[in-house]
Amino acid sequence: MLETLGAALAALHFAAPLAYYAAAKRWLKTPWRLRRDHTYTPTVTVAIPTYNEAGHIEEKLDDVYRQDYPRDKLEIIVVDSASTDGTAERAKRWAEAHPDLNLKIIREPERRGKAAALNKALAEARGEIFVITDADCRWPQRDAIRRAASLFADPAVGAVTCLKKPTADGPAGVEAGYRSRYNLLRLAESKKWSTPVFHGELAAYRTELLRKIGGFPPDVGADDSHTATKIALDGHRAIAAEDLWCVEAVPRDGYHRWRIRRAQHLIQHLAKTPLRRAPPSMRPILAAEKYLHLANPWLLPAAAALMAISATPAALTLMAAGAALLALRPYRTWVVAQLYLMAAAARNLWNKELVWEKQRK
Ligand code: GDD
Ligand code: MN
Repeated sequence: MLETLGAALAALHFAAPLAYYAAAKRWLKTPWRLRRDHTYTPTVTVAIPTYNEAGHIEEKLDDVYRQDYPRDKLEIIVVDSASTDGTAERAKRWAEAHPDLNLKIIREPERRGKAAALNKALAEARGEIFVITDADCRWPQRDAIRRAASLFADPAVGAVTCLKKPTADGPAGVEAGYRSRYNLLRLAESKKWSTPVFHGELAAYRTELLRKIGGFPPDVGADDSHTATKIALDGHRAIAAEDLWCVEAVPRDGYHRWRIRRAQHLIQHLAKTPLRRAPPSMRPILAAEKYLHLANPWLLPAAAALMAISATPAALTLMAAGAALLALRPYRTWVVAQLYLMAAAARNLWNKELVWEKQRK
């Protein structure tokens, strides 16, 4: 009895994501149903939040400077939250050396988190499109802003994000496999309607919609995803663009802490997103993502516990098989991600990590 229940939970744990993946592959084959215009160049504000980014800020500003976008339509706002490593001074020196770029630096006297900093930039933004980008990521494409902007030619689009390439594989070679699966899901969801997962490496929003939803949430770590999803719940599309790439820096140390913190933020975001307000085409996406991130991971230890208690030969064989499969990379990647999600859910009970430690990249 226990053994059967355990096996059923394990089967559900693996079948649910596979079923969602199969649905996503079907969505991926459907058309975008969007009108994109590559000559569309609205005014753009690029906001760069920084906390101790002295090692990255100049390269980041160079990236933005290299963008092939009309200069007179581009405004950059760096919001530095009391960095102690001279980030703001470096940004200031860079600005003096590049007077042809409209760059403003806001210095917060104390650190109150990324969302609060972005809201400062939003209050001063003059662009029709508000782009956020982390200081420690790279834009390999010179037309990144142009590509993102071209999608806003369609009034249905409220937010646009990039796909991600990691610079280095994490321990156990987990990061790259996780990313390719993730990118496929983001695109499929975007084609169906909207993706609830956005990336702070490049997330672009219609400024008026951001203001309408009250800016970035100070109580949800995944500020990028949460704002995009709110915009999608309001009936606009929040999409990942298939030809927009960002390179994200993977930390040299503290990799597990980093993954857990980001999982914590994603959980906060999905837990706070109400399903009932979702437009019909968004509902299956949100329901699946909520289930997969909030409930499904826990079926794994529940199944293992039931089988261990029952201790029948069949149950023990199944458990041994489950352990042996860890030699296979996609399976191992999956199991590791479940462990991060469970650790993150537990950690959210005492520390939401809304203001987090800066990891060296
Ligand atoms: N101004 C300001 N104030 N900026 C901050 C603060 C703050 O208190 N905290 C972090 N930042 C800046 C960092 O300097 C960086 O430019 C960006 O926000 C992202 O922070 P990282 O420390 O690099 O975090 P990450 O690499 O894990 O970022 C990813 O996860 C976050 C959520 O967990 C990205 O996707 C982020 O966009 C996302 O917010
Ligand atoms: Mn980062």
